Amino acid sequence: MRAAGVRQFGGPEVLQIVDVPPEPLGHGEVRLRVAAATVNPTDTYARQGAYAERDPVKTPPWVPGMDVAGTVAEVGEGVEHLSVGELVMGIVVPTGAHGGYREDLVLPADSVVPAPRGADAVAAATLPMNALTARLALDAMGLQPGQVLAVTGAAGAFGGYVVQLAKADGLTVVADAAEADEELVRQLGADVIVRRGDDVAGRVREHVPDGVDGLADGAVQDALVLPAVRDGGAVATVRGYRGDGRRGVRVFPTLVRRAAKDRAVLDRLGRQAEAGVLTLRVARTFPAEQAAEAHRLFERGGVRGRLVLTF
Ligand SMILES: NC(=O)c1ccc[n+]([C@@H]2O[C@H](COP(=O)([O-])OP(=O)(O)OC[C@H]3O[C@@H](n4cnc5c(N)ncnc54)[C@H](OP(=O)(O)O)[C@@H]3O)[C@@H](O)[C@H]2O)c1
Repeated sequence: MRAAGVRQFGGPEVLQIVDVPPEPLGHGEVRLRVAAATVNPTDTYARQGAYAERDPVKTPPWVPGMDVAGTVAEVGEGVEHLSVGELVMGIVVPTGAHGGYREDLVLPADSVVPAPRGADAVAAATLPMNALTARLALDAMGLQPGQVLAVTGAAGAFGGYVVQLAKADGLTVVADAAEADEELVRQLGADVIVRRGDDVAGRVREHVPDGVDGLADGAVQDALVLPAVRDGGAVATVRGYRGDGRRGVRVFPTLVRRAAKDRAVLDRLGRQAEAGVLTLRVARTFPAEQAAEAHRLFERGGVRGRLVLTF
């Protein structure tokens, strides 16, 4: 079976087409014929070997990828909600050769839901992982309608979904943007836009002098963003930052892999995409053979919408 994987960790050039055996199908699992897999930041870290220590599989190839869409090829015992031939999307917790960048992929059925109606596989693949992370981040902070949320990295995949979900939750959203991204971030629904950068916290305070109730840090600015938050406010981080323990600010490191089997939430996100609450943003597609080129482009920064590998 075809996959885009690595035999040794390194730069984009190590990503190649590798042959992997089909995965066995167990109880409560589904086999997908993957048509599309998105390129996410975590895939580039995986390619470089950042997770090699914690991955119990020590033999190559390693196949990155946490977001897929495609058709159901086979349904395991005990799976009621999916049927063969259906267009679906799913979230993958990669380990060894089990990752999203492969044409044959077996997933827990609870990690797979129908693709939003009207979306093709490429568009659907951009939803599961980042929208789920955005939902988790918002739920962890537990803000109430009318409260104020700041979002950094708002033009990105995670940040964009946070902005849209937060608006749907009735929050007021202050989002950062480079000048070139202002229109995009406004269209996502941000109420107030501040210029991105190291001094983003100060700019947020110019609009919200007492500090925001919550902040989702998609730009991974960690300590730099804490001053934007009021005493006792909340911050959701996405790369493990735990805060400095001061001013009663509660910091919630978000880890999407823990929620990868939360089918009800995934399904709701799919329906929100159908309803137009969430926008599926595709920058460009690459045949899986060009995965290295896709990683190269992604790592340069500035890509808006997701790059998607097709199989
Ligand atoms: N913990 C989890 O479960 C989890 C799940 C999903 C995502 N994540 C993490 O969340 C982060 C965001 O992911 P993503 O997919 O949304 O990435 P993305 O689409 O690349 O978005 C990141 C955004 O932040 C901007 N940015 C980067 N550095 C910045 C800085 N210093 N100041 C201001 N803006 C900056 C980027 O702009 P440029 O493109 O111009 O650099 C981009 O607009 C990644 O680190 C990812 O690994 C974690």
